[in-house]
Amino acid sequence: MEKFVIHGGKKLRGRVKISGAKNGVLAMMPATILAPGTYTLKNVPNLRDVWTMSRLLNDMGIYSELNDGELFIDSRNINSFEAPYEHVKKMRASFYVLGPLVARFGQAKVSLPGGCAWGPRPVDLHLKGLEKLGAEIKIESGYVIAKSEKLKGTRIHLDVPSVGATGNIMMAAVLAEGTTVISNAAIEPEITALAKFLVKMGAKINGIGTNVLEIEGVNELHPATETVIPDRIEAGTLLIAGAITEGSVTIESCNPYHITAIISKMEEAGCEFEIHEDRVTVRMDGPPKPVDITTAVYPGFPTDMQSQWVSFMLKSTGVSKVTETIYPDRFKHVPELQRLGAEIEMSDNTAIVYGGKKLTGATVMGSDLRGSAALVLAGLIAEGTTEVIRIYHIDRGYESIDKKLRQLGADIERVPTDEF
Ligand code: EPZ
Repeated sequence: MEKFVIHGGKKLRGRVKISGAKNGVLAMMPATILAPGTYTLKNVPNLRDVWTMSRLLNDMGIYSELNDGELFIDSRNINSFEAPYEHVKKMRASFYVLGPLVARFGQAKVSLPGGCAWGPRPVDLHLKGLEKLGAEIKIESGYVIAKSEKLKGTRIHLDVPSVGATGNIMMAAVLAEGTTVISNAAIEPEITALAKFLVKMGAKINGIGTNVLEIEGVNELHPATETVIPDRIEAGTLLIAGAITEGSVTIESCNPYHITAIISKMEEAGCEFEIHEDRVTVRMDGPPKPVDITTAVYPGFPTDMQSQWVSFMLKSTGVSKVTETIYPDRFKHVPELQRLGAEIEMSDNTAIVYGGKKLTGATVMGSDLRGSAALVLAGLIAEGTTEVIRIYHIDRGYESIDKKLRQLGADIERVPTDEF
């Protein structure tokens, strides 16, 4: 096991390149099930979750190899239609294989994802959508068993604009007979990117980027090469790292249009920005003003940035409210931040952050990806030494975040530990 050892107090300065989007590539990899052949995905981040997805696909007969950001995938010899619990329990995104398997092979056996550190993660919308397309769905011993002769296009309205359900249903509909209209579809950039990738593979999709996707089924698709979009959550996290340390940080190879809500709230807090085509510079002298946020679906303030915002507001000059509407229990980072001296009160799905309290280094434990990133951010400003354990959570979704932070001047080391 490894942990991060952070000595707080350094101002971050300099430039850092943003990696490809975890949630982009994790949707594109299962799409290769839809058409046999060889694919190349570029700008792929070297993450634990990418390795997990590769292992899952490998167990189905799909070969993949990641070399220096290029992921080569060969889906010509698929010999299994099953996503076992051992993979799905580690990574919910494994559930994305369901739609493509049913679309291409008319069958799938995929473990239900169960819950995660912050509560239940239902998949009812995925299953309802596939049933509307004509799949027969049964749940047996924790597995979804899906069967279908030929999926038939239809109209599907999502109760909530679920990212995963939109992706799964879209990947099923591209090979269905006839036209499918998904309304109240998710419009997260990763879903838009998936739709564009499917079109490159020969799919016919209108309304890309809107919450009404019209998909005209085709008989077959073909492989394609695609570049993964920049990771907007890594971008937001590193911008906050620059601001929380009162530094000046430029993030490169990012897409400023994907992080407008984050930039807008950081500006409200007093951050100065320089925004260019594919790079953003943030400058901050002094502590941020207290700014309330409420998470929302894209293009609102992302739930995946909520914990990082709590850490940022620890430095603020007043009281702020951080309200979580997507996953109301997504606050595992709060008790750990309190160990550093943070003054935070919980009221239902809102964290009331009393900024300006002195933070003192301690050992803290990550329990999920973004919550762990929030602990690192707090460690950058805590006095003394902060040790963050269980950093495998961070490595799931951030490519070498310690290297990137060191490049910006942070005093952070990755060291072996038998603590877990
Ligand atoms: C994706 O998860 C992301 N993961 C999550 O990022 C992100 O937090 C989430 O979207 C919201 O933006 C990947 O893309 C791999 P949802 P997903 O389906 O698809 C409810 C990270 O840190 N819902 O949009 O699972 C659900 O309970 C991860 O990178 C149903 O009720 O999210 C939640 O309240 C964490 N029924 C809301 O929708 C369903 O069938 C949003 O979930 C599906 C979802």
